Amino acid sequence: MTEKNNDSLEKIVSLCKRRGFIYPSSEIYGGLAGAFDFGPLGVELKNNLKNIWWQMFVHDREDMYGLDASILMNSKVWEASGHLAGFADPLVECQKCHSKFRADQIGFPVENMKKGVSGSTVFILPRCPNCNSVDDWNAPTMFNMMFQTTIGAEKDSSATVYLRPETAQGIFTDFKNVLDSFHPKLPFGIAQIGKAFRNEISPRDFVFRVRELEQMEIEYFVREADWVQHFETWRQAVHEYLALIGVAKEKVHELEVSDEERAHYSKRTIDFEFDYPFGRKELYGLAYRTDYDLTHHQEKSNQDLNYYDEETKEHFIPHVIEPSFGVERTVLAVLLSAYREDELGGEKRNYLAFEPRVAPIKVAVFPLLKNKPDLVTKARSVFSLLKKDLAGQIIFDDNGNIGKRYRRQDEIGTPWCVTIDFDTLDNDTVTVRDRDTGEQRRLAISELGTYFRQSL
Ligand code: GAP
Repeated sequence: MTEKNNDSLEKIVSLCKRRGFIYPSSEIYGGLAGAFDFGPLGVELKNNLKNIWWQMFVHDREDMYGLDASILMNSKVWEASGHLAGFADPLVECQKCHSKFRADQIGFPVENMKKGVSGSTVFILPRCPNCNSVDDWNAPTMFNMMFQTTIGAEKDSSATVYLRPETAQGIFTDFKNVLDSFHPKLPFGIAQIGKAFRNEISPRDFVFRVRELEQMEIEYFVREADWVQHFETWRQAVHEYLALIGVAKEKVHELEVSDEERAHYSKRTIDFEFDYPFGRKELYGLAYRTDYDLTHHQEKSNQDLNYYDEETKEHFIPHVIEPSFGVERTVLAVLLSAYREDELGGEKRNYLAFEPRVAPIKVAVFPLLKNKPDLVTKARSVFSLLKKDLAGQIIFDDNGNIGKRYRRQDEIGTPWCVTIDFDTLDNDTVTVRDRDTGEQRRLAISELGTYFRQSL
């Protein structure tokens, strides 16, 4: 068990709000549970994490194809995939205060409910977390987590559609299109980043469990005989991505998911868990989905979804390895891994030790004094020079004393601050301050571009 320390979550939540990373959604109206907005720095951080993922898993490989499928899909997709029947969590209601909870999250004995098995063992039921009453529960029921809406003006059942609860199904339904357009050879994968929606019974723990989320998913198509080998390769690839974005290695753990807990489509799943302040919980999943999805879509759609192997002259449905990464949980794990408190120059500070490639702002440029026009003009010219390479990831700040400006940048995780002082006016050199150590070095303005390019 990991130690729970919700203090550090509160610090992150407060920093995210104060500094413009993450805001509660529609806050001026009291917010909306399970929905968050990414502010100016949050959206840069999130885009960096998604771009690194896309670069690593799509652009840097020759066996991957990108996709951006629609969120609304034909409802038959969810019949075939099993989500209409089985994408459900156990729900209990306290008869006294009428609060509703996800049964397994408050200690209900629900291990077998997902499989529709009811046991005869007698269990001690938990107290209601809201009103503390005991023995006032209704029998748990399964609650389908897909959001429903209707298409067009008709309101009958034929108009019902669902917001996708996973991005994966768009990949399966476009499998034949990608085969026909590109004729890829096995093994190959299709990758997608996009929104998914889940009507979670109890959204909680900041952006850990939300109702509107983003996923980065890969369906990697393989021959059945090769699945074990590919499963292992993807297992390593997940760790490589985590290392690249600066998620603390010692906080990541693998959990072999048991038969009872695995999703209906999976023959083997490993959860990558992270030590969050609220306990050790899932960060990502890696599943061997077999040929479950393509086989069911082939049956339901009456379309031939076989792959044709030109060498062996065989037609068959490929098997699938699926690494699935939640974007919000990635952001949270990166923030928690980067958060530090220390003392610098005799002052307490807190800062985000982001990997430079992940940091929303890479460089801040300061004139030493705001009221010296020569310094401000020179600082503006350095800013414009560096902006050519770092557009959107560099800021100019002349507000407040220099110490305060350094602290502000430390808190948002800016790796380098460039200060233009009186020596700059004489010899065209500036100081470059390192966020983590506070050390400063003097560099010529002409060296800065190369220095940052190399450091990034
Ligand atoms: N296609 C497989 C799939 O969707 P999942 O384990 O249900 O599997 C994959 O979800 C990942 O999506 C999770 O590991 C997590 O990172 C993220 N995720 C799922 N539900 C989430 C939620 N309510 N809030 C935030 N992230 C979530």
